[in-house]
Amino acid sequence: EVTDRGGNSPTIIVGAGIAGLYTALAMAPRPVLLVTAGRVGHGGSSRWAQGGLAAAMSLEDSPELHLKDTLAAGAGLVDEHAARILCTEGPDRIEDLFQLGVPFDRDGNGQLKLGREAAHSRDRIVHVGGDEAGAKIMEVLTERAMQARHIEIRERTIVHRITTHHGEVSGIEAWDADRECFVGFAAWNVVLATGGIGGLYAVTTNPLYAQGHGLAMAYEAGAQLRDLEFVQFHPTAIDIGQDPAPLATEAIRGEGATLHDAHGRRFMPALHPDAELAPRDVVARGVAGAIASTGEAFLDARKAIGPKFRAKFPTVYESCMAAGIDPAIKPIPVAPAAHYHMGGIATDTDGRSTVTGLWAVGECASTGVHGANRLASNSLLEALVFGQRAADVLRGLAQAPRTEFEAAPTVLPPRPPVSMPPIRQAMAGQCGLLREAGGLSTLLDRIRETLPETEGDRLSLLTAELIVEAALARTESRGAHSRLDYPETLPPMHTMTVRNEDAALVL
Ligand code: SIN
Repeated sequence: EVTDRGGNSPTIIVGAGIAGLYTALAMAPRPVLLVTAGRVGHGGSSRWAQGGLAAAMSLEDSPELHLKDTLAAGAGLVDEHAARILCTEGPDRIEDLFQLGVPFDRDGNGQLKLGREAAHSRDRIVHVGGDEAGAKIMEVLTERAMQARHIEIRERTIVHRITTHHGEVSGIEAWDADRECFVGFAAWNVVLATGGIGGLYAVTTNPLYAQGHGLAMAYEAGAQLRDLEFVQFHPTAIDIGQDPAPLATEAIRGEGATLHDAHGRRFMPALHPDAELAPRDVVARGVAGAIASTGEAFLDARKAIGPKFRAKFPTVYESCMAAGIDPAIKPIPVAPAAHYHMGGIATDTDGRSTVTGLWAVGECASTGVHGANRLASNSLLEALVFGQRAADVLRGLAQAPRTEFEAAPTVLPPRPPVSMPPIRQAMAGQCGLLREAGGLSTLLDRIRETLPETEGDRLSLLTAELIVEAALARTESRGAHSRLDYPETLPPMHTMTVRNEDAALVL
């Protein structure tokens, strides 16, 4: 049983993507210490999000229909209670962003333009600047957070440990990269908003440093993690030899663009009745299959979008043109890339983890709304809805000025986690779109052999180890988790949790 506590400290929020910034703003007027490894406004996957936010904003739509699509995409593992909250409270959070100054795209009559993405039964994706939703929302939230008097920002501060006392959170320890020293902050409540794990894989659409450090720290602090085996691969990363790979947003398929193999054959209609707009895991496997059998896959937007491409998708256009491909007149080479982690730190619908004083919001959290496969454009929405709910509870707990102390240098200074190329390759090969026991076991041995030698990469490798263990343990195929040796989907449907049972003894 987790008991909320308030008391002698502000709330610490770790991470300054959309989840961290929005939660920090929603905490007003209570004091917040916002800690980020980089510079506020510069980093994180949020800034690269192209798709937008899904919400029932039109008269033809309803939270019930949005819920139905979310449940269907999640392949039997969605927590219906949490997803209902997501779909019901989503429209209010979009309105909040509008009030904060986010310039959503509108038609000539001032109505929100609503786009379609895969596995949505209605047009319900709100966009900003065509494909610039993440960048524009980050701009607005960053500006607001920098002006907010209740938020103190600590940049270039790389958190490497959540400290606990008798199994409850007591603060964080971090490496201050500017002053080159270890620092510690005492706090009753720490909110992790540390993002995803795409950087554990070659190739990813995330920044390479997105390697799941929050998950590993939560695990070390004794928190339960859930559904770690479910890693979403985006079907249409632009395949121009870059890692991270630029994205060709799903909204392009929503406008009618089609997928073709190296011989020009359209392959998705044979694989799913919704063809290019099938759930993301199905399309990702379709694209991977086309590449395996013919060598290449292409997204063809010539007929569906043509000369309007540049105006509609400026970010994708720029990425293509930089590689010498004009998407108005040429098909775009695409391949799947690690994109989003459905699993994470298990939370309730207010962002509480299973450790008193530890909270999680955004991609690092597992609220249960995504199940085995996230519905497109539900991720930023999840960050807002559950960030707001966590802030609503945390605001009610008494807060007072923080204390800062010099932390004991118990570990080597954390390295920016962009190394590990061999492990990233192996994760993509053995724990990627298609998995089987032999490859997963070999990978697990390799990670375990590497772990003791690489203190600087400890958190990345621990997260990788936990993901591979979970993938090995789930002996069925479901959503994004596809086992060649266990192709069936088994009843009963269950989520899987892991917990560091030793944490309470060690810390
Ligand atoms: C995309 O634009 O295709 C990505 C949106 C998402 O991941 O939900």
